[in-house]
Amino acid sequence: MAKKTKAAKAKTAADFTRKDYAALVDELHYHNKKYYLEDEPEISDADYDDQMRLLKEVEVLHPDWVQPDSPSLKVGGEVREDFAEVKHDPPMMSLDNAMDIAELRAFHDRLLKAGLKKPVYHVEPKFDGLAIDLVYEKGVLTVGSTRGDGEVGEDITHNVRTVANVPLRLMLDNPPEYLSIRGEVIIKLKDFEKLNKRQEKEGKKLFANPRNTAAGALRQQDSKEAKDKYLSFFPYTLAKIKDAKKRFDKDMRTQDAIWKKVFPALGFKTSAYHLVTEIEGVEKYYEKMTADRSSVEYDLDGLVIKLNDTTEWENFGATTKAPRWAIALKFPARSGITKLERVTYQVGRTGVITPVANLVPINLGGVMVSRASLHNADEIERLDLHEGDMVEVVRSGDVIPKVVAAKSDKRAKKAKPIKFITACPSCGKKLVREDVFFRCVNPACPEMNEAFLQFFVSKNGLDIEFLGAEWVAKLLKNKKIKDYADLFAITKEDLLEFEGMGELLANKILKSIDAKRQVPFPKLLTAVGIPNVGEHIASVLAEHFGSPESLAAASEAELTAVHEIGPGTAASVAEWFADKTNQQRLKKLQANGVVILKAENTRVSDDFDGKTFVFTGTLTKFTREGAEAEVKARGGRAASSVSKKTDFVVVGADAGSKAQKAKELGVAIISEAEFAKML
Ligand code: IVH
Repeated sequence: MAKKTKAAKAKTAADFTRKDYAALVDELHYHNKKYYLEDEPEISDADYDDQMRLLKEVEVLHPDWVQPDSPSLKVGGEVREDFAEVKHDPPMMSLDNAMDIAELRAFHDRLLKAGLKKPVYHVEPKFDGLAIDLVYEKGVLTVGSTRGDGEVGEDITHNVRTVANVPLRLMLDNPPEYLSIRGEVIIKLKDFEKLNKRQEKEGKKLFANPRNTAAGALRQQDSKEAKDKYLSFFPYTLAKIKDAKKRFDKDMRTQDAIWKKVFPALGFKTSAYHLVTEIEGVEKYYEKMTADRSSVEYDLDGLVIKLNDTTEWENFGATTKAPRWAIALKFPARSGITKLERVTYQVGRTGVITPVANLVPINLGGVMVSRASLHNADEIERLDLHEGDMVEVVRSGDVIPKVVAAKSDKRAKKAKPIKFITACPSCGKKLVREDVFFRCVNPACPEMNEAFLQFFVSKNGLDIEFLGAEWVAKLLKNKKIKDYADLFAITKEDLLEFEGMGELLANKILKSIDAKRQVPFPKLLTAVGIPNVGEHIASVLAEHFGSPESLAAASEAELTAVHEIGPGTAASVAEWFADKTNQQRLKKLQANGVVILKAENTRVSDDFDGKTFVFTGTLTKFTREGAEAEVKARGGRAASSVSKKTDFVVVGADAGSKAQKAKELGVAIISEAEFAKML
């Protein structure tokens, strides 16, 4: 239940007393904490926005009331022309690196030699972001600064304040005079994706990687620019706190307790970490994380191994640059420099041309890479790519390798810039530019048709089990089929003409085609590849319009009126159905014996709009299909594997690795009973 707020009682800004104002500030701090620290918001985003608006109105009316920790400062808008110097107290140190397990062993041996009997290690992520220092005076954030040279950094308080999970006020009743906390500002991978999607939509240049983007954001003069980069903060060290011992007593004695108890008590959310009692434990965890680093929701470039017992830290001290009680254990590099041999071009199933960098093979974190996507023409221009360039290639997580930079200093003088092709590499027709993409719009383009049909039969399309991509290519090449409708008229004789095709396989293929003669409308809509129409949008459209005939008859305005359908999607749907070839193919499909099953409107609400659920383990109240249908009926999505994009993992009995993965990714895990309650 949404909490009735004091602000709501006070009604308009003009009625506010100074006391009301302070109460509203307190309340917004409380809701920030609920949202960012505890993941348990008590009010809706809309209610929060209303309160924030009210706060700003009051602040306009009473500028003298504005508190230095006012939540309105999180919104951004402050402009600083140049950044003042900030002297760090104590200096911000660096870390020594261990490049492999042998170097980690050497670190461990040094500690043993120094007399430690059984060191316990606090193993933390080595965040690949930007180190900052936050100073809180009497509990209020007064200075945020970059590391600089470790002694002196730059004052970037205006930008730091906009970082969503940096509290402007510590959540302590009796805050200390002075407290300095250090950590890293990063951009989570899903936020980075969101950011680049937005750039693409607005026709702006894409950001190269989360680290550089975060670094750039923190050095903006206008904090609005920092605000919209979705920055996040993770603390790792309490550098200074006046009466820490008195205040937190034994919780200050281990890094583990600082992370688990002290940081949250101050209002900071900490990342996952690992406590190990044997050096072998560190090694095992390192191996696991080297393999699994892409399952973490942000970029890491290794692990930081720290002595858990902080009372030992002083004994070990530091070299000029780095403490002796900690070491950074780096992951093997997943980026490297190699030569661009040439750029080739692929035609996708909707005709979009994707440039591909063909590279001299290079080993990146254990995988040989010889091809990398260049995305589109703008990307080639952004990279200022020339023939024969040495290029920096990155393999990040499970995504396709990417060229992130061209080394212009190593370029031959006469090297020519790479120019995007103007004609389709498959059919030779002139390409058409659409936003950042070049497209082949020739409906008879061979490569496009091949890609299109291969998708049509794939798992994400109609899922015709025994008709793989190779057979589709052969059928097309030998003119046994021209389009997807023809698939349903293939005969055994057609198939048996091919070398390597026996009676058995032919029967299997025909049987798996027959199995799809009754096709649910949303499935067909996804398979035919209408631009902007993926699985989810296809089911929204199918549910709303019921049949291909009524969807075909819908105007753009009628389409746009449907929840979740934007103008771009509406236009491409209308255009697709207006196309004569598409109309003919749909007719031919039905003439070849395919029945399109009408979709019923099963929508009961929009409660799960945009939310993705994964079910794991044995459910008792629902069947798996039933539970997924309940999600879809509320506008949500049901997925089969856990990723950064999952919102909820519903665990039944004997849940296995998915629950574990959800935990690692910080995805909300709920029981079947809680799920039932949500419904
Ligand atoms: S502790 C006194 N912990 O690595 C020790 N640093 O190479 C000072 N970093 O400047 C740093 N994750 O930007 C520490 N869990 C972590 C870290 C971490 C990333 C960065 C930090 C520092 C650099 C040193």
